[in-house]
Amino acid sequence: MLTPVVTMERKLRVGVIFGGRSGEHEISLLSARSIVDALDRERYEPVLLGIDRAGRWHLHDAAQALLATPGAPLHLDPTAPPVVVSPGGEGSSLVTTQDAAPAVGSLDVVFPVLHGTYGEDGTIQGLLEMAGVPYVGSGVLGSAAGMDKDVAKRLLRSAGLPVVEGFVVRAHQGRSADEVAREVESRFGWPVFVKPANMGSSVGVSKARKADELAAALANAFRYDTKVLIERGHAVRELECAVLGNDAPRASVVGEIVPTHEFYSYTAKYLDEGGAHLRIPAILTPGQSEEIRRMSVEAFAALELSGLARVDFFMDKIAGSLFINEVNTLPGFTSISMYPKLWEAAGVPYAALVDKLIGLALERAAQRRGLSTSFAP
Ligand SMILES: Nc1ncnc2c1ncn2[C@@H]1O[C@H](COP(=O)(O)OP(=O)(O)O)[C@@H](O)[C@H]1O
Ligand SMILES: [Mg+2]
Repeated sequence: MLTPVVTMERKLRVGVIFGGRSGEHEISLLSARSIVDALDRERYEPVLLGIDRAGRWHLHDAAQALLATPGAPLHLDPTAPPVVVSPGGEGSSLVTTQDAAPAVGSLDVVFPVLHGTYGEDGTIQGLLEMAGVPYVGSGVLGSAAGMDKDVAKRLLRSAGLPVVEGFVVRAHQGRSADEVAREVESRFGWPVFVKPANMGSSVGVSKARKADELAAALANAFRYDTKVLIERGHAVRELECAVLGNDAPRASVVGEIVPTHEFYSYTAKYLDEGGAHLRIPAILTPGQSEEIRRMSVEAFAALELSGLARVDFFMDKIAGSLFINEVNTLPGFTSISMYPKLWEAAGVPYAALVDKLIGLALERAAQRRGLSTSFAP
């Protein structure tokens, strides 16, 4: 008689990196909590790596970090053992720096749940490439291109996609606010939006309604970057579409953010609970939502993205014209965030989405593993 074969598949070790040196540190703790809660423990073993505000990495005990009330942000413990990523490439291994502490061992895949600088901008992706660990989301190039609003707009424009009119001012040019105001007036007039090229969460973004508001707006934006965008200010509806996939990505239904403030500011995003409402699906004609979905997939390809992205649009309230505002390569991922909510509305529940993203990360890593890294004639 044949004995039944019992295959004991090893659980995938999923590194979840959270926190980080970013203005979006808190959102990351919330997003990471939702992701860790959603990981099926039959198949995945979460390994929690928290980055404190000073940029130090700490290995967290999963059981302990999850002790807090369900839905509460992950607790980042700065006294947890320090850990470093070893750029050896071979073993995908992480090592603790304390002699007594056990090595973390290898990770099969990493979910970098970091928004903004040092997370969404290609830096952590580069580190993970060096360490040879597959990771969720876009690679170095796509992450960096998506993070820089000026570079992203150039790539989108060259792909024939509509972006808001604007120009760039650099710190080294030392231009006066008056001189910049004259350029605004000769190009498109008031109001304008002034924003740092590399930021997120509306940090450093302000609206200048007239010339004498420009100096303060510029000073605010230059606190965060040496490159600042000045854009024509439209009266807009804000529409967002989620993209998922690698080589043949799919677009979700379209959602709308309805801010109750003058614009979708930091306060409206995070401080005021009633600061904005999500409307899923957005009220649009079938033609409009089809166009947004098509442009979202085109933007994903134009920026060389993989895994996931949320593509944010403006629709001019008067003219009805559409523009791509920006592309977020690691969008907010709490259970009530727009990205997962859009997929839920498209029939992909949160846990299945996390599964799918891990699968896409492994697929991309496998494709690249087959490539030669040297030339052998
Ligand atoms: N050109 C613009 N016209 C109208 N509103 C804008 C414009 N640029 C930005 N905004 C408003 O400011 C918000 C934040 O700007 P955004 O470029 O999306 O920066 P962030 O990356 O910080 O989200 C937008 O969601 C929108 O409400
Ligand atoms: Mg935005």
